[in-house]
Amino acid sequence: MNANSLFASSTRASSRMEDVEPRHAGGLVNAPVRVFVPRDSAALAVGADAVADAIQTQARSRGLEVTIVRNGSRGLLWLETLVEVEHDGKRHAYGPVDADDVTGLFDADFLHAGEHALAHGETEAIPYLARQQRLTFARVGITDPLSIDDYVAHAGFRGLAQALSIDGAAIVGQVTESGLRGRGGAAFPTGIKWETVRRALADRKYVVCNADEGDSGTFADRMLMEGDPYVLIEGMAIAGLAVGADYGYVYIRSEYPDAIAVMEAAICRARAAGYLGADIRGSGRAFDMEVRVGAGSYICGEETALLESIEGKRGVVRAKPPLPAIAGLFGKPTVLNNVITFASVPIVMDRGAAFYRDVGMGRSRGTLPFQLAGNLARGGLVEVGFGVTLRELLTDFGGGSASGRPLRAVQVGGPLGAYLPASQWDVPMDYESLAQLSAVLGHGGLVAFDDTVDMAKMARYAMAFCAVESCGKCTPCRIGSTRGAEVIDRLVAGNQPAGQVTLLRSLCDTMVNGSLCAMGAMTPYPVLSALNHFPEDFGAVADAKAA
Ligand SMILES: Cc1cc2nc3c(=O)[nH]c(=O)nc-3n(C[C@H](O)[C@H](O)[C@H](O)COP(=O)(O)O)c2cc1C
Ligand code: SF4
Repeated sequence: MNANSLFASSTRASSRMEDVEPRHAGGLVNAPVRVFVPRDSAALAVGADAVADAIQTQARSRGLEVTIVRNGSRGLLWLETLVEVEHDGKRHAYGPVDADDVTGLFDADFLHAGEHALAHGETEAIPYLARQQRLTFARVGITDPLSIDDYVAHAGFRGLAQALSIDGAAIVGQVTESGLRGRGGAAFPTGIKWETVRRALADRKYVVCNADEGDSGTFADRMLMEGDPYVLIEGMAIAGLAVGADYGYVYIRSEYPDAIAVMEAAICRARAAGYLGADIRGSGRAFDMEVRVGAGSYICGEETALLESIEGKRGVVRAKPPLPAIAGLFGKPTVLNNVITFASVPIVMDRGAAFYRDVGMGRSRGTLPFQLAGNLARGGLVEVGFGVTLRELLTDFGGGSASGRPLRAVQVGGPLGAYLPASQWDVPMDYESLAQLSAVLGHGGLVAFDDTVDMAKMARYAMAFCAVESCGKCTPCRIGSTRGAEVIDRLVAGNQPAGQVTLLRSLCDTMVNGSLCAMGAMTPYPVLSALNHFPEDFGAVADAKAA
């Protein structure tokens, strides 16, 4: 079967799905106006359900017909609940909308894009969105997340169709050529990982998606799963075809109940429509998958602890080798990737490796969904090519601090990432440039702090976090983190400060070089960056900048 014939049959299945999908009659004369109210948990947390109910109630009481579509979030989180109205073929944004604002919006004729204090004009023209380059998040906020019709109408399953038309080696070749690197943190080349699994000889292989997303200030995986679940299913199915695996697991943290519900519903619908199962779209090829829910532990995001957890054991890190690609889940060769990594693959397959590789800089190809969090006026998701500077993200997108005070430090890459002072904010955001600053890009999370932050407290917090979340398997991490918090306490108390700094640096050196995994090995990143860039917060430490 070639890609085109498969895509044609996709359309047939989509019409079958019309029986179960809500019909949207946008574009027809006198058709109900389509109003979009996100179902993303960031919107639900600020009352999106109540807003949707209020819109329905008001419309009914005024004799107006509306079709409410529960879309994903556009990622402009400071505007949630962001309500959009389709008018003259364009979407117009209003936000942040509270249920109490709805009467006023109807009075202002928002169904015809009427003026209102909460109006932002055409959604696509809002600079925060207009300046992005959305590839992985192209459909998020646009489509009804659970509608297969919508997914197919927006280029969905085209990558899968392409993958079904070539063999595993050719799929891996495309992924390798695209330059895609893992988005979970370690930035390992995805094609090399897949090729290792493809070449491994075994009676069974697996595909595992890491949706544990434990990093502070990160939410891209959640937004993607809640806003466009089929792209993850498509990416995992392509991985299965590439390496010869017929079963996959999405490991989602228990703190993401909405993402879990959406993924489970999407898997059922994809299976019913023949995109999963024993005979994908009549191709004779098999791939199926299920959701596994984590119990809430940061270390279960580490790939080998995650595999232990899926196997029903305590989340403890495995020594490597063997790599999961050789002996992973249940001892079988396993492709294990982050949500965003898998979700990037359909674009590579559909639009070609060269298209993807042309975006980005250096060895960091494609886009990264940066997640702006902490003390920023405009927190949210910004997908752009690698190479944007940290300052552009903080100011042009983030709008500076939410408090109105000067920003002082930004932690990049989660709880194990370094704190960057203003002097380093012109760094281009790519893996290698950050490495030169002894920093990491991680999963693309930024947490900003204004000038009221106490960096000694943040350094202590890093050690304390490690002590709580350590799996306990190796001594530098299990014991070192607790001793580290104690040393920082003594340092801040002014108890022989020079000696404590020496001790702290020596301890960090031991953790970096002696820990079994990055949990213990990277906890020194936030600690030392805080000490090096903000020594004044640690008291009168004469030699803090040394080493
Ligand atoms: C302590 C720790 C926590 C991690 N948490 C996550 C996580 O939540 N999500 C994730 O994708 N990767 C996480 N990783 C990285 C994974 O071990 C692994 O490198 C990644 O899932 C591989 O997928 P990728 O190649 O697509 O990035 C973590 C690593 C460590 C050491
Ligand atoms: S570094 Fe920490 S989390 Fe990693 S294996 Fe050692 S004890 Fe476990």
